[in-house]
Amino acid sequence: MFFFIAVFIFLVGIISLFAFPALSPVPYFPTNKKDLDLIVGAFNLPPSEKTIIDGGAGDGTVIFAAATAAFQQKKSDRFVAVEINPVLVLILQIRRFFHPNKNSITILWADMLSLPFDRLPEFKHTSIIFYAYLSPQFLVKAVNYFYLRCKSFRLVSYMYPVMNSQARLLKKITGVNTIYVYRVV
Ligand SMILES: C[S@@+](CC[C@H](N)C(=O)[O-])C[C@H]1O[C@@H](n2cnc3c(N)ncnc32)[C@H](O)[C@@H]1O
Repeated sequence: MFFFIAVFIFLVGIISLFAFPALSPVPYFPTNKKDLDLIVGAFNLPPSEKTIIDGGAGDGTVIFAAATAAFQQKKSDRFVAVEINPVLVLILQIRRFFHPNKNSITILWADMLSLPFDRLPEFKHTSIIFYAYLSPQFLVKAVNYFYLRCKSFRLVSYMYPVMNSQARLLKKITGVNTIYVYRVV
């Protein structure tokens, strides 16, 4: 009996992590795989050494595809997946373990709005690309937070345009959903 109650509580806990906005302000919804090539192409900008951060990485659909492309092209880019949901963090860690480019990938279990990005070693001496597939309201907060710490970065936003005044639109790419590329300065 105790076993079934424990399993029930565990399952309710897991479902709550995905269902309640207070626990996960932006619900988990992966980027459409048909747009992956376009998104990874949007990361492919000079200079050659970059750090790509997926703020709210979900199951890692985008970050692992980008890390695979870098591995195949023998690039030394760094990849950082930030995720608040512990179940997704576990999935990210397992996927990282089996990834051919795992040494270039960092998984952080954290709220992206309280992460000291500027103090992370991955961010030293590289250009920063921030990938975001977030709600429009959360996107504004995330870009402001990131801007205060990184000052200058490239932003690739999936599906939603960015309203922040510091963001200058560079490109709009049409896929299944629109991909917006900005320079934030
Ligand atoms: C729409 S999904 C995008 C997933 C992934 N980036 C992709 O494109 O496939 C948004 C993700 O952001 C995560 N998230 C929401 N708020 C967060 C926060 N404050 N810090 C870190 N991750 C967060 C959610 O748990 C969810 O996995």
